[in-house]
Amino acid sequence: MQTASIETFSSSIGVKEAAIQKLRSREAKVGVIGLGYVGLPLALLFSEERFSVTGFDIDPHKVDTLASAGSYISRLPRTEIELALGRGFIPTSDFSHISSMDAVIICVPTPLNEYREPDLTYITNTVKGISPHLRAGQLIVLESTTYPGTTAEVVLPLIESNSSGLRVARDEDPELEQVVFLAFSPEREDPSNNTIARRDIPKVVGGIDGRAKEVATELYGAIFRRTVQVSSTGVAEMTKLLENIYRCVNIALVNELKLLCLRMNIDIWEVIAAASTKPFGFQPFYPGPGLGGHCIPVDPFYLSWRAKECDFATRFIELAGEINTAMPYRVVDFISDALNRHKKPMNGAKVLVLGVSYKKDIDDLRESPALTIIETLQARGAHVSYNDPYFPSIGKGRKYNLNLRSVPLDQLDQYDCVAIITDHSDYDYRNIVEQSQLLIDTRNATAGICSPKIVRC
Ligand SMILES: NC(=O)c1ccc[n+]([C@@H]2O[C@H](COP(=O)([O-])OP(=O)(O)OC[C@H]3O[C@@H](n4cnc5c(N)ncnc54)[C@H](O)[C@@H]3O)[C@@H](O)[C@H]2O)c1
Repeated sequence: MQTASIETFSSSIGVKEAAIQKLRSREAKVGVIGLGYVGLPLALLFSEERFSVTGFDIDPHKVDTLASAGSYISRLPRTEIELALGRGFIPTSDFSHISSMDAVIICVPTPLNEYREPDLTYITNTVKGISPHLRAGQLIVLESTTYPGTTAEVVLPLIESNSSGLRVARDEDPELEQVVFLAFSPEREDPSNNTIARRDIPKVVGGIDGRAKEVATELYGAIFRRTVQVSSTGVAEMTKLLENIYRCVNIALVNELKLLCLRMNIDIWEVIAAASTKPFGFQPFYPGPGLGGHCIPVDPFYLSWRAKECDFATRFIELAGEINTAMPYRVVDFISDALNRHKKPMNGAKVLVLGVSYKKDIDDLRESPALTIIETLQARGAHVSYNDPYFPSIGKGRKYNLNLRSVPLDQLDQYDCVAIITDHSDYDYRNIVEQSQLLIDTRNATAGICSPKIVRC
């Protein structure tokens, strides 16, 4: 009896060892689900490290584009996709291939719904979609940003109820053999930041059990120079939220101080530059026209939603959200005031918005404050045009329907006001100031240029 249980135990350990061995020898097949801003670069990294990689996406346009060596993310050139295809990278929508994967990484969206509550449907649909194809010994990792508890309380039960008899490996059941390993490892992408190579960004890993953590650490250790093991998936989930909430709160702080400084006629940018000379205890954050992107404006509310279940009010998050959400409307007020000083009403004014992506030098429009600014200007009667080298047109999104085309950057004096919302590096700001009648600068892009036409806000 005792002997039998030792044997089963050792063969269960064997499942883990076999998974680790396959990863070490690069025989392991890696599947990445969701080939967006996070999933596609990750798939390419694994491919560079000689893994056989399959990318899964429900968007046929993305799958077809990749299959024909095209790219839909500007910082990932076609040549990188071509090289990956040459190394055997397979983009597909066919989830039956999941069964032949050894590691499956989920990178699907985690937006908020219309009530600003977590929308986990992309995760739950994905897990339901893959579960029937899972087999023992596979590693499943969730990378999508989400509230603490998602992996253990949402993903785990879905896997167990939708796969035929498979269990998720747990510390308290080491003798089970028909198990998959389940882990959470947050993504730490910083679009347009070229100062650090992706593989140099330490990767945090938490497993449902110790074996999942070990296998996931082996997986990520193959492509990242450093992995940081934490004690649970909850800690890993919370780590990502802390990082993003830290940014959200600090950006709100400088946004509020900027509004005060404007009233006091003090240059907040000069203040931040001076404070940044302190060699300890200060990290600069910069004001702007509002938060954008898939993460910082969204993720903190995953935690505040979860906190409500614990009868806990996350006041910093709510306050930061309130300040940051109001920023695009403040920008519109500044434009209105500036036009007023030129004896022009907003109603009927021609306004050119420069830069619509949420951050400079990237092709990502998600949650961009420029969208709110354009819509609010239009609602107040302005005739709005825009220019952005990364977006030839803006059509319809989940929350907007603008139907605009990027206009050429010439004859700027035809506009009553030009507003810099995103400070792309390619813009010639001196020339823009010279050509414009009135220039609103929300990013300090015109620092060092002296002109009465510039209104910094
Ligand atoms: N973009 C970033 O800078 C960033 C940084 C850190 C973390 N994250 C997090 O990573 C996750 C993914 O973000 P993203 O920016 O890559 O999103 P994205 O929208 O660019 O890509 C997600 C992809 O998932 C696909 N998809 C949706 N449902 C699917 C399903 N059931 N099966 C297969 N594919 C499916 C979509 O078609 C899309 O291509 C989110 O949770 C986000 O919060 C993003």
